[in-house]
Amino acid sequence: MGSIAIEIFGKKLRNPVMNASGTLGYGREIERLWSIKVLGAFVTKGLSILPCQGNPQPRIFDLGCGMLNSIGLQNIGIKRYLEEYTEFFLERKTPVVVNIFGFTEEEYIECALAIGDNPVVLAIEVNLSCPNVKTGGILFGKKPETVFRIIRGVKSATNFPVIAKLSQEVTDIVELAKAAFEAGADGLTLINTIPGVVLEENRVIRGGLSGPFLKSIALKAVYDCSKAVPIPIIGVGGIMNTEDVISFLRAGAKAVQIGTATFVYPNTIPKIVKELKKRRSFD
Ligand code: FUM
Repeated sequence: MGSIAIEIFGKKLRNPVMNASGTLGYGREIERLWSIKVLGAFVTKGLSILPCQGNPQPRIFDLGCGMLNSIGLQNIGIKRYLEEYTEFFLERKTPVVVNIFGFTEEEYIECALAIGDNPVVLAIEVNLSCPNVKTGGILFGKKPETVFRIIRGVKSATNFPVIAKLSQEVTDIVELAKAAFEAGADGLTLINTIPGVVLEENRVIRGGLSGPFLKSIALKAVYDCSKAVPIPIIGVGGIMNTEDVISFLRAGAKAVQIGTATFVYPNTIPKIVKELKKRRSFD
């Protein structure tokens, strides 16, 4: 089987496959099924400076055509996460992309500062696209000027490469990509879920839609942005199989993230990595 290693942000990764933020818990959980070492890099759940309880249950819905999640960024807080998990990833020689989130612009900077020079971190993924909270997230990611300010602030607080995770829930994602690039972003993650609603009894639940339908929308974002900015793009959205991964790489992505497919078939990632190794190239 051939090597499918890639180089990104000046580091060599075993392969171009990562998990999408929030879809493999904190990293330990999936090891009942497969080793985290299968991944090129692990992407954390969105981490905030203070722990966050998230939204009330229920908050994950199988819609048949895809999934809607309304987690609301539940997490244990970035400091505790780094204290409890750094050793785990060091032992497994698996680089970590830390996904950070702030309810205010300052909180993004505090998260970047909390990471310091942590030895397992490959890059910081700045979540400017979560549709499930009333402040922060996509509200910051809709305007080029806030994207610019937050990315510039995070860049000034860290020496790690900074990736902007953007949403397609905007009129022109290329404008946001350019704003992130001009602010110094080292990469982009495209795209996050798309806002939707589920009506449950007397509750209206807002959340992010994901699943195979997202692929064509995400491919367009990757393709258009890869022509507009000269930084690596991590493609995410609707990837269910190896052919989908190849499509993203051909559209201009340097690496990919897999999310909803893991909920359908938890061994999707190891299966795809094995199949990629059997191929001679990504063409
Ligand atoms: O609600 C959530 O925790 C989802 C986050 C995201 O889509 O970025």
